[in-house]
Amino acid sequence: MGALANNIKSAMTESSWIRRMFEAGIEMKKEFGADNVYDFSLGNPDAPPPKSVKSALCRIAENSAEPFAFGYMPNAGYPESRSAVAASLSHEQKIEVPSSHVVLTVGAAGALNVLFRAILEKNDEIICPAPYFVEYKFYVINHGGILKPVPAKDFTFELDVAAIEKALTPNTRAVMINSPNNPTGQIYSRAELQELTAVMQRHMEKTGRILYLISDEPYRALNFENVEVPPLFGLYPYTVIVGSYSKTLSLAGERIGYLAVSPEMPEAMELINGVTMTNRILGFVNAPAIAQKLLVDMVDEHVDVNIYRERRDAMAKVLNDAGIKFTMPKGALYFFPKSPTTDETIFIDALKKERILVVPGKGFGYSGYFRMAFCVPMASIKNSADGFKRAVKAVKP
Ligand SMILES: Cc1ncc(COP(=O)(O)O)c(C=O)c1O
Repeated sequence: MGALANNIKSAMTESSWIRRMFEAGIEMKKEFGADNVYDFSLGNPDAPPPKSVKSALCRIAENSAEPFAFGYMPNAGYPESRSAVAASLSHEQKIEVPSSHVVLTVGAAGALNVLFRAILEKNDEIICPAPYFVEYKFYVINHGGILKPVPAKDFTFELDVAAIEKALTPNTRAVMINSPNNPTGQIYSRAELQELTAVMQRHMEKTGRILYLISDEPYRALNFENVEVPPLFGLYPYTVIVGSYSKTLSLAGERIGYLAVSPEMPEAMELINGVTMTNRILGFVNAPAIAQKLLVDMVDEHVDVNIYRERRDAMAKVLNDAGIKFTMPKGALYFFPKSPTTDETIFIDALKKERILVVPGKGFGYSGYFRMAFCVPMASIKNSADGFKRAVKAVKP
């Protein structure tokens, strides 16, 4: 007798790569000790939250005896928290974003789910560049849609706009991008985004149906070379930005993020009202109260990005010294190097023998590569160097 729906059973099998690595890591750490296992499989941001989190929490605690201090609230969030996010976005997007255009959500994951619930008809397609964040597929399926990955340009992982244009159909409801990107670390340039939005505008005029640009930006502040992460609101009126404080403030467990709709979208309030409703009926009801209150004080802060930059640079040295090819990540927390073997699982097995854990590119819809998270202690990065060299030698013909 089956306890589960078939589509969840197959989702569990499909998404098993990261879980398998995670479980292998637990076993190996038991056997060899945590310091002797180099686990690059999980992107759990480990930089400490900014110091101001303590004073912000104290302020919240001081007011905790008030009636409704943590009670039900408007489904879109506390007005002062929405205003704080809107002010920050206005600065970042170089256009006035009213607080009415912001809905606070249970992380970026919650934002994507409430958005898909609000905009998708059955079998609508969401196009995204591959490789992509594994969970996208499940979020889209949750709401009756189909994720249609389109390979990015090989090795550099720039947008292949011509391929995206070919993939557009009357059923395409959105193009979803993620910059800085998980898993490639790349940041799309203004020129690429202008080319993309011009194609989308033409398609929308042809079909007469709204084609959204969804920009998932949880890594926006983790930008190591200060390259521009171009604002999109002024570029395309049907843009929805999804943001999160999981990585930028190291608050991943507090589950706080937002969704913001371009002030230039004529139907913006209709979409906001829809999303406010789906936030409620998906059972989130509203984003967590304490985390929302934190944002009022902390919305423009971020973790010390140098911590991650130093680790990125150390990881690049380890990979270069082992002769592994990669495009340097400009942001986010990951490398997506090319495997020295065509089938990356062969190299991944060789790495495992060296107690190094990474995730195969096929888990992200892009074979021949592998993903490594560099939000791990510096010692793990440096001490993995000889293991990488030996694993490359072991798979060389
Ligand atoms: C690309 C991408 N989008 C969304 C999320 C979800 O983030 P949150 O913790 O805000 O739900 C993640 C988390 O790793 C991510 O990498």
